[in-house]
Amino acid sequence: SHGYFTYDPGFVSTASCKSKITFIDGEKGVLLHRGYPIAQLATQTDYLQVCYLLLNGDLPNAEQYANFKKRVTYHTMVHEQINSLFKAFRRDSHPMAIMCGIAGALSAFYHDNLDIYDPEHRELTALRLIAKMPTLAAMAYKYSIGQPFMSPKNDLSYAGNFLHMMFATPCEEYVVNPVIEKALDRIFILHADHEQNASTSSVRLAGSSGANPYACIAAGIASLWGPAHGGANEACLRMLERIGTVDRIPEFIAKAKDKKDPFRLMGFGHRVYKNYDPRATVMRDTCHEVLKELNIKDHPILDVAVELERIARSDEYFIERKLYPNVDFYSGIILNAIGIPTNMFTVIFALARTIGWITHWIEMNEEADSRIGRPRQIYIGSPTRDVRPINERE
Ligand code: SDX
Repeated sequence: SHGYFTYDPGFVSTASCKSKITFIDGEKGVLLHRGYPIAQLATQTDYLQVCYLLLNGDLPNAEQYANFKKRVTYHTMVHEQINSLFKAFRRDSHPMAIMCGIAGALSAFYHDNLDIYDPEHRELTALRLIAKMPTLAAMAYKYSIGQPFMSPKNDLSYAGNFLHMMFATPCEEYVVNPVIEKALDRIFILHADHEQNASTSSVRLAGSSGANPYACIAAGIASLWGPAHGGANEACLRMLERIGTVDRIPEFIAKAKDKKDPFRLMGFGHRVYKNYDPRATVMRDTCHEVLKELNIKDHPILDVAVELERIARSDEYFIERKLYPNVDFYSGIILNAIGIPTNMFTVIFALARTIGWITHWIEMNEEADSRIGRPRQIYIGSPTRDVRPINERE
């Protein structure tokens, strides 16, 4: 027994790996990062404190926090030649396509003569990734709209600096709105880590071969992009826009139940949570807070989301299957309200999840007996048979 919770040793022996980073109880809707409940972290700390927590095992004191912030800030710029890498992409490339390519290419700039088995080298890599992902994400956006890249401003907060690089231009400063800055930082926290999800497992599996951390992060970005995973936030907002008005909700609920139709309600359901996703609770409350503080009154998409959740939660199809809103259900509405374009939603998820990915990569490389991942299979193909000469084959 582990004090707060007990686990069945049988479960641990069948689990894919052991980790000290994040604990999820899907039945109870519990999410802990190094023992701290997500709702407390999201409302009482900031993203860089959570990065420190995930990497070091506990929250920083004031001195540790100041030092960590300074070290991250030191690495916010990217190598000048990376700018020309962006120019190889078509202007209308999806920003996630750009991020997949650029993340892997970072190996060529930052991994030379680094040793993945040296703890200091691993920590330097983590600092570089935490610092550079917002810069690269903003560059992907700027490139897609044909505006010049904006350099980081190290006197701004982590979220404030990202907003500056996204929305400032050489002709006009971006004045950071504290409401938007806090909402974005909270969204980063809510996406920071989530145990062995598909993209984190992709990072671990890639890393288990000894691949360099940037190549592994690229694997994580690729996996996250899928609409069943991190791509759901973009798909969810597009679905809510497609529904458009509250009176069209029953039509989409019926589509989701129609077995012949592969349509699924984006932002609903989860592999592990068979109760409410605790992140969705915080996200929903933040959504209402932000719209109120930004004085956004009638937000049709929010009305559709609130009514869709209400109907789904009283519908036996969803109750039987334990389908509740997940982290992606309300996040898109907040991002939309603070001016983030829809095709950047999953990039925001990747930016925030990078700390989780690299912390799991470090934890795996710290294990003395870490071995290459090699999932097995249940073979259901042809039995053994002999090759026949080509002119004798049907
Ligand atoms: C994330 O793993 C993580 O931790 C991921 C994540 C993280 O932080 O890393 O939490 C982030 O990826 C959240 C999930 C975002 N994805 C979506 O919102 C996409 C929509 N959701 C579904 O695709 C689905 O719910 C999954 C993929 C999230 C989970 O799928 P499961 O648990 O494998 O469920 P299932 O496919 O076995 O479905 C069980 C039943 C099926 O019906 P029956 O065949 O039993 O009749 O529930 C139905 C499904 O058809 N169902 C849905 C549904 N999700 C499942 N029906 C309608 N709408 C949905 N969204």
